[in-house]
Amino acid sequence: MKIAVLISGRGSNLQALIDADDGNDWTADIVLVISNIPGAQGLERAEKAGIQTTVIDHQEFDDRETFDAAMTKAIEATAADLVCLAGFMRILSMPFIDHWRNRLINIHPSRLPAFKGLDVHQRVLNAGELITGCTVHFVRDDMDTGPIITQASVPVHDGDDADILAARVLEQEHLIYPEAVRLIAQGRVTVDGEQALIDGEILYPAE
Ligand code: GRF
Repeated sequence: MKIAVLISGRGSNLQALIDADDGNDWTADIVLVISNIPGAQGLERAEKAGIQTTVIDHQEFDDRETFDAAMTKAIEATAADLVCLAGFMRILSMPFIDHWRNRLINIHPSRLPAFKGLDVHQRVLNAGELITGCTVHFVRDDMDTGPIITQASVPVHDGDDADILAARVLEQEHLIYPEAVRLIAQGRVTVDGEQALIDGEILYPAE
C-alpha cells in the first residue's frame, strides 16, 4: 500500500510511520509527505528517510477548495491509496473529504468522541479526567468524527500539566498510528457506513 502523509509541524507521528518500516511485514510505503507550512520540522524527517516531499502553502491559494484540490493532484500523482493526517493543522473542505472517503485517516490525542478539537490536554486536566488517550479514525466532515480504527488509553497522574500529559499520550500515538496503518494495509479494516470493523468485528461502536 502506498501512503501520503500530510503534516504542518514537528512530524513525530510521521517519524513513527517511517520507523515502522522494519523491512519485515510492514507493507505500507510512504510515497509523499505534504506540508502546508514551509520549513516544517517533519519535512526534514522525510528528506532524511529519502521520501519525496512537497510544500503546498495554503497562503498561496484563494480558498480552501483550491488548496485542497492542489493536494489531491499531488497525492494522485503518486498513486497513493491512503492519506494520513499527522498533525495537519488545516480544516479540510467537504470535496476533499468526500473524494478521499474511507481512504483518509487522522490521529487525535484523546479518546474520541471525548475531547474533540484543540487544546485537548488542558481540557482533560480541567475536567478532572483520570484516563485519556488517543484515537486513529477515518475522517468525516465534522472535525474529529468518523469511524474509529483504534484507540489507546493513557492514565492522567496527579500533578500532570498539559505538556507532561501530551508527552505521555504521544508515546501511545506513536504506537497506534503505525498499528492502524498496518491493519489497513493488511486488508483487515472495513467500513460499513459510520462503523469501522476490524477482522469483521466492531471494536468501537459508532457514535
Ligand atoms: C499529535 O498530538 C496529533 O495527535 C495531533 O497533532 C499532534 C501532531 O504531532 N493531531 P506531530 O507533528 O506528529 O509530532
